[in-house]
Amino acid sequence: MDTVEDKQMNPVELVVPDEVQRIIEKHQGKRGDLIAILEDIQARYRYLPEEALKIIAKNTEHSIVDMYAVATFFERFSLKPQGRHIVSVCLGTACHVRGGPDIASRFERKLEISPGETTPDLQYTLKAVNCLGACAMGPIVVADGHYFSSVRMDAVDEIVAQTRDGLDQVHVGTDQRIFPLEVRCLHCNHSLMDSGFPIDGYPSIKLTTSFKNKHGWVRLSSLYGSYSIVSEYEIPPDTVRNFFCPHCHAEIIGAGSCAECGAPMVPMNVRGGGIVQVCSRRACKGHLLDLASNPVD
Ligand code: FES
Repeated sequence: MDTVEDKQMNPVELVVPDEVQRIIEKHQGKRGDLIAILEDIQARYRYLPEEALKIIAKNTEHSIVDMYAVATFFERFSLKPQGRHIVSVCLGTACHVRGGPDIASRFERKLEISPGETTPDLQYTLKAVNCLGACAMGPIVVADGHYFSSVRMDAVDEIVAQTRDGLDQVHVGTDQRIFPLEVRCLHCNHSLMDSGFPIDGYPSIKLTTSFKNKHGWVRLSSLYGSYSIVSEYEIPPDTVRNFFCPHCHAEIIGAGSCAECGAPMVPMNVRGGGIVQVCSRRACKGHLLDLASNPVD
């Protein structure tokens, strides 16, 4: 584990034991608790600090060895401090032939780090990844979960600047970061797409939902970065909903919690590999796209 000697250049947040303990208590004893605990620790500190792992080992039945095994198996965990912004450049075959290596070099020069490294001020981590599942639109860059397709050399500075300023404001129809996804149920693997009910000009994602004794359909925009939603019943903001597959009727709920509000996340398998997760709380913009992960079984 890397240590941090220069606190000014490497402002790593100190681990607060009470905070770690609260995360442990939130998940302890539940199915998949170790991954859920580590996900919350990762979301809180942007990596898995050794001190936090020791607290988990002391207060649960999970050993440090268990935790290192999980942390090294899943791409989404890091044992080193990560930047506030994560920029991944695809160097898979299709992106490679479309100029991915030149784009990666441009990011390296701009950020003055190599892939796998983090800037000294902990603002940016640069990653080189293999195939993000959007080969026809390469070269692909994903910054803080937002897609940029057909990236040109002269777009690199702009992507870095936009990432620093925040990528939450998106404009459907003109924003290159908005990206259509095709998703499947993580239980039965049936497609959840509904081409007969387009939202934002693309097939919507059809689910069933329940809240406060109401049970009905809901359709979500399939554009990652759009929060458009149409539902059978009006759903008040802040309502935490349960989601179900309309085909196998199993509840769709993940082990992790939303980094924004703490509500359960709703994971769906992305066609081509990976997982997209959206927050179960109405109007919360917590979402997560991890195309490096294996689909949930
Ligand atoms: S090779 Fe880059 S998205 Fe597939």
